[in-house]
Amino acid sequence: MTDDIIGRYENVSKFYGSMAVVKNLNLDIRRGEFLSLLGPSGSGKTTTLMMLAGLQSPSSGHIFLNGRPIETTPPHRRNIGVVFQNYALFPHMTIAENLAYPLKARRMARADIAQRVQRGLEMVKLQPLAQRRPTELSGGQQQRVALARALVFEPSIVLLDEPLGALDRQLRETMQLELKQLHRETGVTMVYVTHDQAEAMTMSDRVAVFNDGKLLQCAPPPEIYDRPTSAFVAEFVGESNRLSGAVAAVDEGGCTVTTDAGIAIRTRPQPGLQRGQAVFVYLRPERILVGGAAAACENRHEAPIADAIFLGDHTRLRIELPGNRDFTIKQNFFGETRPPDLGDRIVFGWTAEAPQVVPV
Ligand SMILES: Nc1ncnc2c1ncn2[C@@H]1O[C@H](COP(=O)(O)OP(=O)(O)O)[C@@H](O)[C@H]1O
Ligand SMILES: [Mg+2]
Repeated sequence: MTDDIIGRYENVSKFYGSMAVVKNLNLDIRRGEFLSLLGPSGSGKTTTLMMLAGLQSPSSGHIFLNGRPIETTPPHRRNIGVVFQNYALFPHMTIAENLAYPLKARRMARADIAQRVQRGLEMVKLQPLAQRRPTELSGGQQQRVALARALVFEPSIVLLDEPLGALDRQLRETMQLELKQLHRETGVTMVYVTHDQAEAMTMSDRVAVFNDGKLLQCAPPPEIYDRPTSAFVAEFVGESNRLSGAVAAVDEGGCTVTTDAGIAIRTRPQPGLQRGQAVFVYLRPERILVGGAAAACENRHEAPIADAIFLGDHTRLRIELPGNRDFTIKQNFFGETRPPDLGDRIVFGWTAEAPQVVPV
């Protein structure tokens, strides 16, 4: 284990009775990164986080922190900060006392505590509210206190379990930016659980996508978006057109898939594909080019527009493609380009770069 890896799950499984909720997890946490665990409810994200915090123990496998196995280290000795969705602030203490609590528990000198509490309050811009109690704060402010309390003892990792889940959308987006800024300023490693793919994509250095207790893919957001390696990831993150088919040819230049409805799709080389293999082809709606822009595309079609929805910054066109009657194209029609009418035939296409082919 090298210096730039702060934490590691090695073949970690967790059973509740006979039910496996985390299945043979192998995952490295890089020092200083913002790592998101993304997946639907029940996919094992919280359990994964809790095993690192020491609040759950693995049924098998090992977890390392700074190169050492941590199974025998009690939670309060792991130097990990934790933030939950339901703030869990101490209601009978003031904000300042809430921040001081983890420092007192670590038997820090009184003067140091005062200084750090002050710094913690500044960090989340809550100095004026230091003497209030949690019930006198808004949800967003309470969550800032929880954040400061998790950071104030300078932990090596902060674990956040859907910390913004209870906030309304606008406040959530503001807090996302604040949290990212805190991450940059402190340089602390953050592991962030969310079921919100947009949140994971905007905040993270890397996203680990979970489904049904399994880690499916862990990569930077652009790679998760453009190069999903499974149907689940392709469909969970962003919007895609799906065409089902089989690999017809693999050659040096790329690969040809023939869809079940008989459309030949040319793609860039994609590792691991075999002739005859059943696959899904995913195409992002914004990667489909229209009109003259489609002229140079390896894949080109012509069809009538079945639906057009104007959304201000873009227009969604629906095409009834054989095998996918909801084939969606996202286009801007600015300036001289007239938005097409329903029933107009348009030429559209995509380059061999655009499709992502995954095994069924
Ligand atoms: N203490 C527990 N006892 C039994 N089953 C549990 C317990 N905690 C979680 N589970 C189950 O484990 C699965 C994964 O849960 P969890 O890790 O909380 O998922 P997520 O955070 O992704 O929603 C779920 O099916 C959940 O019901
Ligand atoms: Mg959870």
